[in-house]
Amino acid sequence: MAEAKSKLRHVAIIMDGNGRWARERGLERSAGHRQGAEQVRVVLEAAQEFGLEYLTLYAFSTENWKRPPQEVLGLMNLLSEFLDRQLPQLMERKIRLKTLGRTDGLPEGPRRKLLQAIAATAENRGGTLVLALNYGGRAELVDAARKLGRAVAAGKVNPETLDEQKFRDFLYDPEIPDPDLLIRTSGELRLSNFLLWQLAYSELYVTPVLWPDFGRNELAEAIAAYGRRDRRFGGIKS
Ligand code: FPP
Repeated sequence: MAEAKSKLRHVAIIMDGNGRWARERGLERSAGHRQGAEQVRVVLEAAQEFGLEYLTLYAFSTENWKRPPQEVLGLMNLLSEFLDRQLPQLMERKIRLKTLGRTDGLPEGPRRKLLQAIAATAENRGGTLVLALNYGGRAELVDAARKLGRAVAAGKVNPETLDEQKFRDFLYDPEIPDPDLLIRTSGELRLSNFLLWQLAYSELYVTPVLWPDFGRNELAEAIAAYGRRDRRFGGIKS
């Protein structure tokens, strides 16, 4: 199918560069993460203003546990603080919160706050913020394969009729449309195990700007760049 201009519904972001931002200023890495959390708020507001339906942020990967325990703890505390402070904002702005990842593996405190915020915002229809937490693209595919295996064993799915559409149903949240645009900050040219299934046809945008410096203008620039792309989904131009 040829499709010249696709509406931008869903932007996913790999928020990178917090550590470098802090180092450049002679600060602790935690200061970079703190400013990064502040930018989450700024970018979320801008995303709503620009009419995006979904904003997915890679907040903590399955690999991030390898960081020093103090840094992991700091990130978990920031998450709890973010949820406490942002819940009234999410309600006011009618934003629904969702999560992707092995959230069972998060510490009890942030996990409880996360589940409470998800429940409280479930009926909001002004846009969706998706936080990828303890998320890995390969882990998601393995988890999908496990669920699928159980469904086949229970006689609910016939493996011979399985197709891409049906496989999708076994991902963490099949309701979320695939991202139209993936943004990665801080210049790295990697997917880092993010949304491996869902990014198959997404447009990629990499900016050298570090995440704690990424705000409304930078999001607007990325969206403008997307507007100049020609998405063909493997087809040809109409
Ligand atoms: C990458 O920077 C960023 C992370 C691993 C975590 C992202 C977390 C935040 C933006 C703050 C918390 C988020 C929420 C939703 C409260 P890095 O540390 O890898 O930077 P570096 O590559 O420069 O070292």
